[in-house]
Amino acid sequence: MKKRDTEKRCCAGRSTEWQGVRTINPPVYNGSTVLFDSFEDIVEIASGQYEGIAYGTDRLPTQRAFEEHLSQLEGGAVTRAFQSGISAITSVLQAFTRSGDHILLCENVYGPTATFCKKILSKYAIEVDFLPASIGADIVHWIKPNTRLVFMESPGSNTFEIQDIPAITAITAPKGIITVLDNTWATPLFLNPFNLGVDVIIHSVTKYISGHSDVLLGSATINEKWSEEFLDYYTTMELFAPSQECYLALRGLKTLAVRLRQHEKSALTVARWLEEQPLVGSVIHPALTSHPQHQIWKRDFSGSSGLFAFSFAVDYPQEVIADFVNSLEMFGIGFSWGGFMSLVTAGKYSRIGVPTESEKYTIRLNVGLEETDDLIEDIKSSFERMV
Ligand SMILES: Cc1ncc(COP(=O)(O)O)c(C=O)c1O
Repeated sequence: MKKRDTEKRCCAGRSTEWQGVRTINPPVYNGSTVLFDSFEDIVEIASGQYEGIAYGTDRLPTQRAFEEHLSQLEGGAVTRAFQSGISAITSVLQAFTRSGDHILLCENVYGPTATFCKKILSKYAIEVDFLPASIGADIVHWIKPNTRLVFMESPGSNTFEIQDIPAITAITAPKGIITVLDNTWATPLFLNPFNLGVDVIIHSVTKYISGHSDVLLGSATINEKWSEEFLDYYTTMELFAPSQECYLALRGLKTLAVRLRQHEKSALTVARWLEEQPLVGSVIHPALTSHPQHQIWKRDFSGSSGLFAFSFAVDYPQEVIADFVNSLEMFGIGFSWGGFMSLVTAGKYSRIGVPTESEKYTIRLNVGLEETDDLIEDIKSSFERMV
């Protein structure tokens, strides 16, 4: 049967090379309906033999281009994009667990990750235990016969503890336990989790990969062993990510290395300056020798990004902390991180076995791409109000 000449029937402007123009970046494909060449394509879909893109939820070319690029950077078998980082996390957790399983989460994970496990997975009889944030080989004491998955975030995005990933995977892999790592802080450029034995890598693409605080997107990259099981879930759920966001994230990947090196340099300048200030109790940055897991960071990571924290020497009441935060002019007060604008948040985080520090406020800084002299001047002025 003669295939339809779609280009002619549906008027001009449909090809990606529009009127002979080729742009460096791929176009943004938007669409629900994808036109077939003929009725025979529909027959092929019904028999599972169709190889093209059948519908918008089938992942349009912009999404596929982003996923392919990230897969290459991570060295994974398969990457899938999600509407946000938390959506990638909750989907991965659902994809790999079933009633009766036991899962382990490092206690320093992003708050909503822990909340999802406690509130939603528990409804499906999945047992959840929290691990000390700097766990390594001692994970062996937490594993049960039904342990299915271990979820790590290294460093944790508020308190920056580092896990001994190879020590953990050396124990979990022979038992067939899946290891998942939220690698948002390091990005694919500063940590290669597959080399350390991790099975699934998650990113909040919202952060450094997109880099401009104007995108919400997540990703999961899976190794060969677990890809099929994951794809079965992703396809069945008809998950997908918006094309415009994938386009911006793909564009972000092209400048990630340059931005990240600058974030690293600026954050270290600010962190080292903070270390010398009498008002400051401790600076919590994995690349500083004072960090409790600095040696592990040095062994596994090839760089540090722009997010770190500090606490004051004195346990100031909330009003004093509020005045410090509110008087900063260069640091926006807001959630998320990884963008060009410096940001500040403050909170108290209780951790197993470290009660004294958790009683104090932790001030978290996202060091952006502004001049570090200006950032330091800004913090200095806010410190002066406290003495
Ligand atoms: C470490 C980490 N993972 C995941 C997320 C969630 O990402 P998103 O904001 O894209 O949902 C965040 C958000 O702040 C985060 O800090």
